[in-house]
Amino acid sequence: MQDFKTIIEPFRIKSVESIKFTRREEREAALREAGYNVFRLRAEDVLIDLLTDSGTGAMSAVQWGALMQGDESYAGSRSYFRFRDVVQDLTGFEYVIPTHQGLAAERILFSSTLEPGQVVPNNNHFDTTRANIEAEQAEARDLVIPEGRVPSRVHPFKGNVDLESLEKTLEEDGDRIPLVMVTVTNNIGGGQPVSLENLRGVRRLCDRFKKPFFLDACRFAENAWFIKMREEGQAARTPREIARKMFSLADGCTMSAKKDGLANIGGFLALNDDAWAERCRNLLILTEGFPTYGGLAGYDLEAVARGLKEVLDRIPARASRRGWHPAPVAGRRPCRLHRRPGAPASHSPAAVPGHRAGGRSVPGGRDPGGRDRHGDVRSRRRRKGVSGGHGSGAARHPRRVYMQSHTDYVAEAVIGVASLKETLRGYRITRAPAVLRHFTALFEPLPA
Ligand code: F0G
Repeated sequence: MQDFKTIIEPFRIKSVESIKFTRREEREAALREAGYNVFRLRAEDVLIDLLTDSGTGAMSAVQWGALMQGDESYAGSRSYFRFRDVVQDLTGFEYVIPTHQGLAAERILFSSTLEPGQVVPNNNHFDTTRANIEAEQAEARDLVIPEGRVPSRVHPFKGNVDLESLEKTLEEDGDRIPLVMVTVTNNIGGGQPVSLENLRGVRRLCDRFKKPFFLDACRFAENAWFIKMREEGQAARTPREIARKMFSLADGCTMSAKKDGLANIGGFLALNDDAWAERCRNLLILTEGFPTYGGLAGYDLEAVARGLKEVLDRIPARASRRGWHPAPVAGRRPCRLHRRPGAPASHSPAAVPGHRAGGRSVPGGRDPGGRDRHGDVRSRRRRKGVSGGHGSGAARHPRRVYMQSHTDYVAEAVIGVASLKETLRGYRITRAPAVLRHFTALFEPLPA
């Protein structure tokens, strides 16, 4: 076949949603009113919304059609069995427990298996994962490779676990470790992938120390794609084969279907251990619902069941590289901007494109002011609000929502903002809640 230079989105559009164009003064007013926190904006005031790829994707005609086939029976619905079969076929895990979203799967797994004082290693814990571990008075320990901590370093799999550190952790604290986790792709580390080789290394250590290995699998398809593109010997395999291989190395997973499930809501916990599954199901009944719906409508189960297939079917040979698929593009190369000393890291890049171009992205992994997103003060230096030298922001692409022209516009906006980096003022926090404070904190610009 002719080798085309133009890469096209692998779908056509049946239904459209308008986006609102605003003037700069309107955007400035909206930001001021929101306390300069992009989470507090009205979404309809945002032209191109790259705050998150979570639950914001566009469903396919097949998924919308499947909604009508939702079986809303309380127990044993047909939709559950369809969902279960798809998850089993993909992951190979025996027990499939639906939840309303990823954090519910985390809460159910951790409150059923963790005790105070225990330690869970991971490449990097996503913030809800960390919060749910810490809620059990256990420790969430991040063991990503050193390259994964430095945005400017180049490495094909910056989400890899540092296997030496994991081995040392298992040797020293093994009796306090109930399970090992790996997040694919590594969201907090900039959406970076994990190689199959690294997952095999984690498996070997888990076998040696007799620990169960769980994946935080939210973006498993994206990770499979990176393996296909970047890992030696994997190019000829399909994303589905690679995804199956990834899951086959683990004993269970937590999953937010709002990402690579291509659904607007949903998640699951899947695992092989009988006793753990039983305990998790008991808690599920208490907090989410009966084990065949777990907080979801029958039609949600249908949408996820279709989404989990499509996400692996519909990645055409070349499109993903250009980012129609979940794009950790900006995460991979965070837009880093200078800021004034004392200004909260990561806030300017999120807010500035807002009044410049009408877009919205998310502030960097740690929240402004040097705490992590839960409000833990990580160091004395940070307690004084003096953190890092740069801020970073991630622009996360909802799946199948924006076209190439939107992406080009965003690139122009980011380049425009980067050219202003010497003049950006930064912001200071005027009010902050105790936990997960990036959601609701208020800011004001530092004086010129
Ligand atoms: N794990 C990872 C790696 C995630 O990125 C998320 C959510 C979750 C777990 C929790 O899943 O939202 O369904 O409860 N990430 C979203 C984001 C919120 O914006 O990155 P959830």
